[in-house]
Amino acid sequence: MSHAPAIPIVPVIEAPSTAEILARAPLETPAEHAALVAKIKRLLKQQDAVIVAHYYVHEDIQRLAEETGGYVSDSLDMARFGHEHRARTLVVAGVRFMGETAKILNPEKRVLMAARDAECSLDLACPAEQFIPFCDAYPERTVVVYSNTSAAVKARADWVVTSSIAVKLVKYLKDRGEKILWAPDRHLGNYIQQATGADMLIWPGACVVHEAFKGIALGALKARHPGAAVLVHPESPASVIALADVVGSTTQLIQAARDLPNKEFIVATDTGIFYKMRQAAPGKLFMEAPTAGRGATCESCAHCPWMAMNNLTALAQALETGANEIQVDEAVRVKALRATQRMLDFADGIDARAAGQGRPVSGFAKGERRQLGD
Ligand code: 13P
Ligand code: SF4
Repeated sequence: MSHAPAIPIVPVIEAPSTAEILARAPLETPAEHAALVAKIKRLLKQQDAVIVAHYYVHEDIQRLAEETGGYVSDSLDMARFGHEHRARTLVVAGVRFMGETAKILNPEKRVLMAARDAECSLDLACPAEQFIPFCDAYPERTVVVYSNTSAAVKARADWVVTSSIAVKLVKYLKDRGEKILWAPDRHLGNYIQQATGADMLIWPGACVVHEAFKGIALGALKARHPGAAVLVHPESPASVIALADVVGSTTQLIQAARDLPNKEFIVATDTGIFYKMRQAAPGKLFMEAPTAGRGATCESCAHCPWMAMNNLTALAQALETGANEIQVDEAVRVKALRATQRMLDFADGIDARAAGQGRPVSGFAKGERRQLGD
């Protein structure tokens, strides 16, 4: 008789304080800021490099990525952009799993992280040494992992997904009669399970930022702003998701802010997203969803501490010194590529079907991609 391990006890994640990280960031005068931007632009050109940034990093980096032919997006489209752009160096402004995904897909490219120590609590909560034996104990289950995982975890997976396609993929697998082993985000896992009715065994990790959103306080804020639409990233707890008008990936939330008729929004995701939301929906009002604690007592204050490590000085140093280069063991990379490439192919299939029906699904239409790097 086989004795399957119980759901694992995940490591306790000691996240750094966002406030402390931001306080340590160098203060620049306007002249220093301009000099830094000019230096980065010069280095990008010299090194045939392009910035691939996540919406959660500082708006200075998002702006610079846009000005220099780079890209700002959610984790799925960051992967797609890096894969299809012709630059020889990708400078990833985000967290480590995003850099590793870029390397898995592009072994011939140099991948630099703007911030060396930028981790993710989901990735840290799912060490490969614990995850692999857990999967081995359930050989009948299809292993689906969130992109917020290490290359070694992706190497053990059948599929990689991001929040923008997770429900669609699990529904597709369920319709094929497959049972799922899902890791590492328990809130996203529960949300997908509810949305699809799939048989899912769920790893108990969590995002330190989204887990801090509070349902009761959100309900009170919503009651004070009855005209506001509530936009929620599915890494949030069920009590927060229950109050959402729209649940989606970062790109999908920005699209909702643009497309919904509401003038006010309450947003349960990292506040870095407000830069793009305001661009996409000028004149609309965006409010932070309430988190645990206030001022010095809130842990992340709705801003990821690791995303906060990305700043212009760090980015310039990475380009100048070539430090923070992402390396992935080749045997691991080849295994991780299988599940990661499946994610891209599945997302392309969704886009192709949506284009046939005249509506974009992911944030990245086929026609746009063809122009990248031209
Ligand atoms: P997205 O794929 O929606 O950008 O989410 C990535 C992430 O880390 C959210 O916390
Ligand atoms: Fe990870 Fe959460 Fe930070 Fe996203 S916001 S990178 S899930 S810790």
